[in-house]
Amino acid sequence: MSTFSQSPKNNANNLEARLQIDYLLDNKTIEIEDRQEVINGLQRIPKTLPARYFYDSKGSQLFEQICQLPEYYPTRTEAGILEQYAVEIVNQTKAEELIELGSGSSSKTRILLDAYQRLNRILYYTPVDVSDSILKASAYNLLADYENLKIDGKVATYSQALQQLQNSFLGTRMIIFLGSSIGNFDNSECDRLIEQVTAALNPGDYFLLGIDLQKPLEILNAAYNDAQGVTAAFNLNMLQHLNHRFQGNFDLSLFKHQAIYNQIDNQIEMYLISQQTQSVTLEKLNLTIDLAEGEAILTEISRKFNLEQMGSYLGDRHLKLIQSYTDPQQWFGLLLCQKSN
Ligand code: AVI
Repeated sequence: MSTFSQSPKNNANNLEARLQIDYLLDNKTIEIEDRQEVINGLQRIPKTLPARYFYDSKGSQLFEQICQLPEYYPTRTEAGILEQYAVEIVNQTKAEELIELGSGSSSKTRILLDAYQRLNRILYYTPVDVSDSILKASAYNLLADYENLKIDGKVATYSQALQQLQNSFLGTRMIIFLGSSIGNFDNSECDRLIEQVTAALNPGDYFLLGIDLQKPLEILNAAYNDAQGVTAAFNLNMLQHLNHRFQGNFDLSLFKHQAIYNQIDNQIEMYLISQQTQSVTLEKLNLTIDLAEGEAILTEISRKFNLEQMGSYLGDRHLKLIQSYTDPQQWFGLLLCQKSN
């Protein structure tokens, strides 16, 4: 086990020496896949759009605002659980490499990094994000604040990053996936991700997963229909993003945000509802669609889980549940799993 030297000044050179960023996105393939996905989704019944179109720079800012809303409990609840158990998680896993899927600004990760810092160990941190600018900015901030960090960031999709990681590290590895982002995946996407996570771990390595739990309807409805209308703006901004990206003419004033909880599938479903009969054209996709008054476009599912069911789902996939952590109201769960043989 290596320890880091005491207080070298965190000048720019020192930061650069501890930073590597790999660019794995193949923009041409992504462009083709993105186009096809939008075309297919808008021709489906009901019409659907991929949730990742929320996250242009305005959408990412709106999401940060959502995380601060009084009604949006997941972020602060998960942070509270991490505050309480980070030292225990670090002591239990003794991981030397931390890989974070969808790292964004890495703000919650800091709670784990603080715990590592106290142990005076070098930590290899691999943030994975599709946004090059967010990844770079947060990497520099982290390196300035944590002398024990070495960062090997990957500008990549989860799938690309996980495949590239396979078998390349000899110490104990922990993959973390926070914020219940897994709730935005349907069953088959979830199966695929977990398969790739398992493949990127050696027996004895860890997976730390944040999941939003089932809870009373009023709390869920309020969280996705906030009083200030930030979630509505976030949802509508997807149309603005599509207009920009594919030369579209969506008129945002002719759509309304709707979020409902589907009690059969235990998921929030976010829709954009057309307020009148209309046609919309996306020039770059060579696509015109017709929408009826009241017709819905599904933009996101956000699944709400049962802790025990998720534990056994992961256990069936060689990720044995070691410990689950939750808050006093049991609104959010953090599952620590270990890869079995
Ligand atoms: C990123 N993801 C976990 C959020 C969620 O709660 O499903 C996205 C979001 N959509 C509306 N509000 C927040």
